[in-house]
Amino acid sequence: MEAIIGKIIISQQQIEQRVAELAAQINRQYSPGELILIAIMNGSLIFLADLVRRLDLPVKFDFIGVSSYTGTESTGIVSTTKRLKIQVSGHRVLLVDDILDTGQTLHNVRQMLIQQGAAEVKICVLLDKPARRRMPVQADFCGFTVPDEFVVGYGLDYQEKYRNLPYIATLNLRLEA
Ligand code: IMP
Ligand code: MG
Repeated sequence: MEAIIGKIIISQQQIEQRVAELAAQINRQYSPGELILIAIMNGSLIFLADLVRRLDLPVKFDFIGVSSYTGTESTGIVSTTKRLKIQVSGHRVLLVDDILDTGQTLHNVRQMLIQQGAAEVKICVLLDKPARRRMPVQADFCGFTVPDEFVVGYGLDYQEKYRNLPYIATLNLRLEA
């Protein structure tokens, strides 16, 4: 399948402004306490990097790797590909991901963190695609709500490509001739 970038739906400037607003909300909510951010690889990398630099709190972060997605349709299978090094037991945790889609990934990872003894687990996502939700998951902090279209950029990929785009765009897929 050949893929080409469609329409830019969220610009670089809009992302920058919204990330600053989210960071301000998180600062207000957690200050003066400590916060552990757990980010889901690889999609959340760029969002996390921009977000943490605007946090004015004692912060630790780590990445967790899970796999549940191939192509443009979620498989629902979640296996751990990179385990946490940080101990979450007894701590307030903010789970960070690029997009809340069916909710399966965040639902599973949240359960995992609760099992590991986290005192509280909240969720922060750049994008929310509520039309496709299958699990009862809501974001506590959300950048933008997006329609039911496959999007790439600012960490989000199609077959590992386009993560480096500084904006969010739709993707047009067409069968190769
Ligand atoms: P969920 O488990 O269905 O909520 O899927 C979450 C994961 O699927 C995200 O972390 C993304 O990696 C991926 N995903 C969902 N929707 C999109 C999309 O529109 N573009 C790129 N990746 C997506
Ligand atoms: Mg991902």
